[in-house]
Amino acid sequence: MFTASDNQALDNIMKSRRICRKFTDQVPDKKDVEAVVTAGRMAPYASISSGDVDVFRHFYVIFRDNPLLEKIDKLIKDQTILDLAILKEEMAEDKFLQKYGVALEKMWFNVAENGLPVFPNPPCLIVLAEWRGARRAERQSLAHTIQNMWLKATALNLDFNMISPLESMWDNQEFCDLFGLPVGKYGFHGCIIGYKEAERLTSKPISDQVHWL
Ligand SMILES: Cc1cc2nc3c(=O)[nH]c(=O)nc-3n(C[C@H](O)[C@H](O)[C@H](O)COP(=O)(O)O)c2cc1C
Repeated sequence: MFTASDNQALDNIMKSRRICRKFTDQVPDKKDVEAVVTAGRMAPYASISSGDVDVFRHFYVIFRDNPLLEKIDKLIKDQTILDLAILKEEMAEDKFLQKYGVALEKMWFNVAENGLPVFPNPPCLIVLAEWRGARRAERQSLAHTIQNMWLKATALNLDFNMISPLESMWDNQEFCDLFGLPVGKYGFHGCIIGYKEAERLTSKPISDQVHWL
């Protein structure tokens, strides 16, 4: 049974969770990184597909100054050029994207040119890979995994950034080769953990969106 103070602690952690977009050079302790990964391992998974392989979820921990980071930085830029070309093709046809896609197009253009602001040498990158299975539910499972890791990092007073562009790497041969995974069979996500350099950005206030019908 959980106590009222356990419950309060959970609320405090959820309220404190924030995105961090600028990190100091300080590398987090290996013990803390292990705890964050363990939290990710506890996240739910799509059981019907998980039995297809011995290991359905992998975590690759890459600390600052590892040459792999530069390779990943370049692969993110290259992949974003491809993603941007597809977005532009879709925008030519799709009225919704014409109206709402401009900010995304601008952001991807910037990433294609300059890379992500947290690269090329973040304090600690964790790449997550999830078996796709017949259900193709890997993106949901990865989101649960990221959330567990984010809350644990917050509880450890670490700061956290999501690396969503890694979601496009599922069919990127060079990226899959870095981890010895077969191309097309695993979905990816990733996060950076470390310590924030700047004050956290102010998020939109949580408004009253609950409708009790
Ligand atoms: C599906 C999804 C993808 C996201 N991808 C990124 C990302 O790639 N990079 C990033 O810096 N933040 C990313 N975020 C974080 C959001 O920008 C952030 O959660 C939002 O601005 C609210 O701020 P807060 O998390 O501090 O409350 C993502 C969030 C979601 C839900």
